[in-house]
Parts: sequence; C-alpha cells; structure tokens
Amino acid sequence: MMLAVASRSRDKSATTILSLAMPFLLTTTTTASFATATATTTTTNPRPLLPSPSPRCQNPIPHLRLSPPARRLPCFLAAAPGARFLPFPPTRGMASLAATAAAAAAAEVTHLTQRDAAEIDEQLMGPLGFSVDQLMELAGLSVATAVAEVYKLSEHTRVVIICGPGNNGGDGLVAARHLYHFGYRTSVCYPKRTPKPLYSGLVTQLESLSIPFIPAEDLPDDLSREFDIVVDAMFGFSFHGTPRPPFDELIQRLISLSAIESSDKRPAIVSVDIPSGWHVEEGDVDGGGIKPDMLVSLTAPKLCAKKFTGPHHFLGGRFVPPPILNKYGLQLPPYPGTSMCVRIGKAPSVDISSLRENYISPELLESQVMPDPFDQFVKWFDEAVTAGLREPNAMALTTANKEGKPSSRMVLLKGVDKQGFVWYTNYGSQKARDLSENPNAALLFYWNEMNRQVRVEGSVEKVPEEESEKYFHSRPRGSQLGAIVSKQSTVIAGREVLQQAYKELEQKYSDGNLIPKPEYWGGYRLTPTLFEFWQGQQSRLHDRLQYSQRQVDGSTAWHIERLSP
Ligand SMILES: Cc1cc2nc3c(=O)[nH]c(=O)nc-3n(C[C@H](O)[C@H](O)[C@H](O)COP(=O)(O)O)c2cc1C
Repeated sequence: MMLAVASRSRDKSATTILSLAMPFLLTTTTTASFATATATTTTTNPRPLLPSPSPRCQNPIPHLRLSPPARRLPCFLAAAPGARFLPFPPTRGMASLAATAAAAAAAEVTHLTQRDAAEIDEQLMGPLGFSVDQLMELAGLSVATAVAEVYKLSEHTRVVIICGPGNNGGDGLVAARHLYHFGYRTSVCYPKRTPKPLYSGLVTQLESLSIPFIPAEDLPDDLSREFDIVVDAMFGFSFHGTPRPPFDELIQRLISLSAIESSDKRPAIVSVDIPSGWHVEEGDVDGGGIKPDMLVSLTAPKLCAKKFTGPHHFLGGRFVPPPILNKYGLQLPPYPGTSMCVRIGKAPSVDISSLRENYISPELLESQVMPDPFDQFVKWFDEAVTAGLREPNAMALTTANKEGKPSSRMVLLKGVDKQGFVWYTNYGSQKARDLSENPNAALLFYWNEMNRQVRVEGSVEKVPEEESEKYFHSRPRGSQLGAIVSKQSTVIAGREVLQQAYKELEQKYSDGNLIPKPEYWGGYRLTPTLFEFWQGQQSRLHDRLQYSQRQVDGSTAWHIERLSP
C-alpha cells in the first residue's frame, strides 16, 4: 500500500527498522504541498489525459421478472473520472486472445517511481483527507479479494501472512482479517510488532477471531505441508537497504520456496505491492530474490512490477481520486463492477482442458423441489437475483430453421408466468426467420456462481401486439430509437450508418413526443413442454431434475424424473 512511512501520522520509534532503512522517506515529509507540487516524474511514458471527466458507471441492478429492461452499462465506464480508459481486462476465460488484449492493457498502465509513490501517499493523507487506517483497510481488503479471486477456497484454504513492522505488514494484518471472513484458514507471522494503536488494534481484531500468531522460529520447516498460500507482507515501496533478522531469514525461506519449480508442490506466494527484498524500481536486481506467483500492486504498480514475471498481477486500492490521476497522468485499468481489485498484466496461459471446478452445492432433491416447474424456476430466479448475479435474466435462445440447422444467441428474459417465457427482439432477425419456419426453440439459463443451469424447451409464438407496444414504451427513449435504427441481422457498411440514423431519429423525436414502435419489433413467448433444473455437485455427481408433461385423467400434469449426470 502506498502509505509513506514518513507521513505526518507516524513516528520514527514505531518503525525503527524501516526508518533506518529508508533515508529517502525521512526527507519526503517536507515535500511541497499538493497544490504546489511540481509536475510528474512518475510515469513511464506519460500520456495526455482525457480532456473531460467521464461519467461513472452505475452497476446494473438486477431486475425482477416482468420489470422494465435492465440497463446495460458498459463496464469500462467504471474507471474514476479523469482516468484514461483502458480495455477491460478479462478476469476469466483466459484464451490467448484475451491474454493478448490484457498484455496490451498492462503495457499502458503507469508504473510509479519510489519517490512519486511516497509523494502520492503524502497527498492522500494530507490535502486529500485520507487517514492511514482508511488506506490500510482498503489496501488489505484489495489484497484479500485479489487472493480470493485467484486462489479459490475449494483448493486453497490454508493461508499464512508474514507481516513486516510497517505499513506493508499492516496491510497484511487487514488482509488476514478479510481472508478469515472469506472462509480461509488464516495464520499470521508478525515477528516485530509495531506498538501503535492502529497495529495493536489490528492484532486484537485478529485475536478475537482466534487467528493464530506463529512466531517466526515456529514456522514449520516445510511450509508446503502446512500452507496453500504464503502472503509476503514484509516490506513495501518505502523500503531501502538490507532486511534485518528475522526478515532476512524469512525472505530466504520464500526464495527457496519459490525456487521449487512445480507450483503444485509448494504454496503459492503472494507479494503485497513489492516482493520483499526487491529494489522498488530495479526489481530483483541480482535475480536471486523472491519470485512470487502473484503480485498485488497497490494504488498503482511501482517500477519493479515491470520485472514481475509471475502469472498473476493484480492492482488494488480503489481509492485514487481524480486530482492524483490527473496530476500524475496515471493510467490505471478500470475496476470491474464493485470489485476491489483488477487483473493487470497478461492473463496466465492455461490449458483449457484442465479448467474445471469442483462444485459444492446443496443437494437438489425431488422431495424439495416445487411440483410446478414455473414455481421452481421463479424460486431459483429469485435466488439468483438475491445473490446479486449480474443479469440473471440473460438466457441463450436456440432456434432452428426448417432444415433443422440450429443457431444460438443470448437474449434477455423480460417476463415469465405460467403462459411462458417472454423476450423482445426484431421480427426481421435471423432468430425470427428461424421461428417463422420452425416454432420449436430452447432456452438456457446458466447461473455460474450458483452452479446452476435451467433448460427450457417448447414452442414459440409472438406476443400480442399490445403487449409489445406496452413494453416498447417502457424502455428508455434511447433503446426505443436503437430498436428502430437496427435492421437486426442485416449487413451494414459500418458503425457510422447506425450512428447517423440514430442522430436523425433523435432530432426527429427531440420534442419528447411518443416514439411509435416499429412493426418489425416485438416480443416472443416460449410455452414450455420441458424443463430441466441442474445443480452442480462434487465429483461430477450433479443433480438433474427434468419436468416433462404427461396426461393424467385427461389433463396435463408435470412429471418429475431424475436424469443421470
Ligand atoms: C446478454 C445479452 C443479451 C441480449 N439480449 C437481447 C435481447 O433481449 N434481444 C435481442 O434481440 N438481442 C439481444 N442480444 C443480442 C443477440 O444475442 C443477437 O446478437 C441478436 O439478437 C441477433 O441475433 P440473430 O441474428 O440470431 O437473430 C443480447 C446479447 C447479449 C450478449
């Protein structure tokens, strides 16, 4: 975390090791005030900022069924105003294309000199009104969320956090608390405690969670046996000089650990902001330092991060305000959604065939599900909404033409009741052509975070015109114009064709008058004849409950059967 050890809120006695080791920091307390500080020396290749701040992205709010359309806002708008937008880095998928895009994005991220990092901290904690406690909390939370994003609880539960005496160690203590609450079995090694209320408070908090504090000399000889993750929170960007005991020895242990090539034979090593022992700007100067698997840069990566070659580089510290972004010309990637961290650097190349999750979910039993599949669907849908999933109403729609040639695409569910599942589209699109030739279609919902999918099959017909009219006019005017402009699924010469047509329509309806729904736009309703509810389980022993229709005493009833996974 970018907390200058020499900040006004700290005294030297509390940080003997650091202050001795950091002559630079003792001179930075008197640097010019924020308002008068001179222009940046920080960036490697500073670029001009966007001329005007861009609007912040509001997170899309999951909508309940039959509600007006969920707003689809581009995530790249989530960057702080004033920040240059970089392409949104992928958080999963990790195909080579995504890796290339992420690498390009990483190349543009600003890397800070040690001096600018210290200066930024001073400004944050001076004119910009932050306290050390606040920044440490946010930094530690960022570290914990980045760790949790990469090292899933299902495979990595045991974490030891080695904390140094300064702010980097404080970040580690905060991360320990959050990792505990995320479900990790967390231990802490904090050999040189800092006798200040902030630090002793953090220790008390961890003690109240019964998190064990392991003395350095009691750390097991073979860390691999006891831990899945080792977090190096010893020294941060303000460190100079040679680490003293016991940190010299602890760093050596991490160096030996990281020398074990096969990453599945040793714990993952995560360094907070700077791999301890590295030069803040030059990196691992003699090549004999810690080689972490993951680096969580805080606020902005320091120059040494350019030398990081491990698979996971994240940025945390989502608190940088526009004055800092602008003054230092910082180019930082946008944080996705509400996340406290974002991957920078290239995504690790993975063997796609090796990607697998071991699902852990409550069992889906015949005795527990609703007799009516619509009720069961609504129950699961509500649970997906409650869980805060992004666009739980997104569904894959598969159609087939009269030759049986299938075609899939995503659409948004806009209503469901006992009559069926409704979505809206263009009646001239490919899906519409398919449906006019063959009304049979399938819907697929996939709620990844809940290990659930729902298949729905049936036949499709257009919704009554009044229903489409009503829905059309409930949409934002921009979406209404967009629907008119798009002759969906036809070839167009370029994007400007759409933009031009949109502009003209915007002018035409600038008086606020009702925008008539085009006759080529409207809804479809799929009336199901079959449902399947799938719940992922361990060892691929998934639950599959299928509802199909049977005739019972002259009327149609739903019949539930379990299918083999
Ligand atoms: C998450 C998501 C939701 C979408 N929702 C709709 C929708 O509700 N209606 C629609 O016409 N297209 C929607 N689209 C675009 C379609 O996937 C598709 O590109 C478009 O309908 C043209 O498909 P077609 O040529 O197969 O008819 C959505 C795409 C995504 C990724």
